[in-house]
Amino acid sequence: MTLAGSHILTVEQFDLPQIETLFSLTDRMVPYARRERITRVLEGAVLGNLFFEPSTRSRLSFGAAFNRLGGHVRETTGFAFSSMAKGESVYDTSRVVAGYMDVLVIRHPEEGAVAEFAAATHVPVINGGDGPGEHPTQAMLDLYTLCRERRLRPGGMSGMSVAFVGDLRYGRTVHSLAKLLALESGLTFNCAAPPELQLPDHLVAHLRERGHRVELTGELADAIHDVDLVYATRVQQERLPSGTTVSGEQQERFRIDASVYEKYCRPRTVLMHPLPRDSRLGTSELSNDLNRHPALAIFRQTDNGIPVRMALFALVLDVADQVEETSREARWYRPARVGVDDTQNLLA
Ligand code: NCD
Repeated sequence: MTLAGSHILTVEQFDLPQIETLFSLTDRMVPYARRERITRVLEGAVLGNLFFEPSTRSRLSFGAAFNRLGGHVRETTGFAFSSMAKGESVYDTSRVVAGYMDVLVIRHPEEGAVAEFAAATHVPVINGGDGPGEHPTQAMLDLYTLCRERRLRPGGMSGMSVAFVGDLRYGRTVHSLAKLLALESGLTFNCAAPPELQLPDHLVAHLRERGHRVELTGELADAIHDVDLVYATRVQQERLPSGTTVSGEQQERFRIDASVYEKYCRPRTVLMHPLPRDSRLGTSELSNDLNRHPALAIFRQTDNGIPVRMALFALVLDVADQVEETSREARWYRPARVGVDDTQNLLA
């Protein structure tokens, strides 16, 4: 099935062969993401980035990925400066911007709102995060990163064990990544969270229906012991229902630092996080003393966001086979290590 013209709303739209197609194209995008080469394949195309929730990396990464394909980017951020503040409906806003743009990326605080946008427009819409719902492109770049860290391809991860840690209820990146990983076979998911932030029941059922083992625990050590991947997340304070509070002390119980890693993880356990790390307590979910640890893949994840999103745009706008037609060498100064940094890879 081709992705040309498709909305990308959930990872449930994908099967393993499609993920493999996406990742092979992502590999071809790496020289452009690293700024070694230039392509102009989307010259003249315009991306509309509509972000109604805070964002740094997703918004910039979608925009930079589109720019690196030669396209232009127009953005709105927040409700306050959009016509929604004047009472305009999702339908009207969506239909209007579809007349200006070739593709839209939308982030919205309500689950399902991006699908509502998509239903009202005739240009492809990519879900950049819908409340506690999904964040499909984050899961794609997470899985791509895991594949690179472990020198694996999609379909080659059977039997792997994964620890999800932190806010598994309101954190949408875990929801998308769990569903994407569930395409593999015989995985073990250890979910470590305070009870009020545990993985939603429907996701637990989804994983079990597909034959995976799911263990829910309140103990960090039980979850991260001897796993292949630890995926830590931030407590989504902005989405907690009123009355639910997660104390600093509770957050502390799920924090991973170098000594916790050495004590419980395997020497090659990959450490990932969608970012941002919440450092307001003076520490974060993955402590700063891990910053130079070779297992810490968080900045390789963010680097990988560029070629993954470039590949997705190329598939959705149906130019995958034309990327190299305009390819040439980049001439400007760039530091020795730019993006997609393999140098710290565990197996390198
Ligand atoms: C995440 C998000 O917005 O869902 N960030 C991101 O896009 N990488 C995770 C988060 O905000 O905690």
